[in-house]
Amino acid sequence: MTEIVDRMIAENSVENRRALIGDLFSRVRQYDVTALEVRGRRIRTGSDHWVTDFASCNYLGLDLDLEMTASVTESISRWGVHPSWCRLVASPQLYVDLEDRLAALVGTESTLILPTVTLISIGVIPALVGKSGVMFLDKSGHETMYEGAKIARDNGAKLVSFRQGDFDRLEHLLDTHRDNPRKVILVDGVYSMTGDYADLTTLTTLAAKYGAVVYVDDAHGFGVIGQDPDSTAPLGHLGNGIVRHLDLGYDNVLYVGGCSKAYSSLAAFVACSKKMQAFIKAFATPYDLSGPSPTASLATLWSGLDINERRGDRLRDDLWRLTDKAVRGLRELGYTVDNRSGFPILSVLIGNSTTLEVAANLLFEAGILVTVCPYPMVARGQDVLRITVTSANTDEEVDDLLAAFRDLRDRLSVTTAGDQALLPAE
Ligand SMILES: Cc1ncc(COP(=O)(O)O)c(C=O)c1O
Repeated sequence: MTEIVDRMIAENSVENRRALIGDLFSRVRQYDVTALEVRGRRIRTGSDHWVTDFASCNYLGLDLDLEMTASVTESISRWGVHPSWCRLVASPQLYVDLEDRLAALVGTESTLILPTVTLISIGVIPALVGKSGVMFLDKSGHETMYEGAKIARDNGAKLVSFRQGDFDRLEHLLDTHRDNPRKVILVDGVYSMTGDYADLTTLTTLAAKYGAVVYVDDAHGFGVIGQDPDSTAPLGHLGNGIVRHLDLGYDNVLYVGGCSKAYSSLAAFVACSKKMQAFIKAFATPYDLSGPSPTASLATLWSGLDINERRGDRLRDDLWRLTDKAVRGLRELGYTVDNRSGFPILSVLIGNSTTLEVAANLLFEAGILVTVCPYPMVARGQDVLRITVTSANTDEEVDDLLAAFRDLRDRLSVTTAGDQALLPAE
């Protein structure tokens, strides 16, 4: 048995691009960190080693909010720790109330909750395109959407792709498949590496022209951006997602919001009509073949929605300001920072994986936790350190981040191109 398993691991390591990540795993101290103690956004990772967290996606800082923690006990005593029915059989009333509340927030007739965006993608995308539809995948879209698309392709559907924003190519593909009645365009709302966002105005226009549906994975947008943005509130209001942020409607749009990031709760939802909700219940396998969200997460999502109503916009103001400070500061230090939107995800270009490893370890020693992204998470030679900012970070912590990147710049000979000339300084 061991021999067989060893051979499988060895053979996969040759043919799978992810082996390159596996290779870095043992040498990058920022991977697989065990948090021994958490105080705000400071984490103890060794007997006396603390890091400041710029890798969490708890954008509103609700993981640490006392109102959130207090909400759990009452719900658990009422519903038990976990509703162990599959959703097809039964769900606590809390589920249904949350679905109504989420629908009111984003502005659709209904929503359907499953535990994660990944489960939604692997359940809903194959259900939508069936055995003979076509999927038009944005190449910068999240890997989990691609996983869903591959399951659909395995069932017989066709999968084609286009580069983010290459609408000529997308239109050509839509035109090629114009006679297919089941066409689904797959995009991220807010992109997980750069904070960039999809041009849904153009995408929905194309979708309407060719009779397609746009499936929007807004795992990073829900809770962070919302309706009526202006110069005083660039992230907009209410955090009700990319569609509302761009002042669009939901015709031909299937909006997927994630709650495990801004809402610190293990849940995700599809926003749709009642008719589509009934279709997904019947056709998406995670509704009957997979478990539900734990009660604690349903309770914290409810409590998070309360907080969002009362003080979400204030939290988003902090989020915007701290992100702006980080982006400006890093650019002033000479780094190439990918972030055009001002949303709280930014990628700092480092170059090749050797430099990435050195940089990641230096930052960790300096007490900064970021997400280390080598190829194949990003294009070859374009390795980045991803920084995510939350409203629970402080100005002092952003100062520490910038100080650590200043030291890093001085220890590596940084070029603004962030190319492979980055080498450890003598
Ligand atoms: C854009 C995007 N979609 C989906 C996911 C997966 O979300 P979930 O954890 O809810 O499956 C992530 C996770 O980071 C993501 O960044």
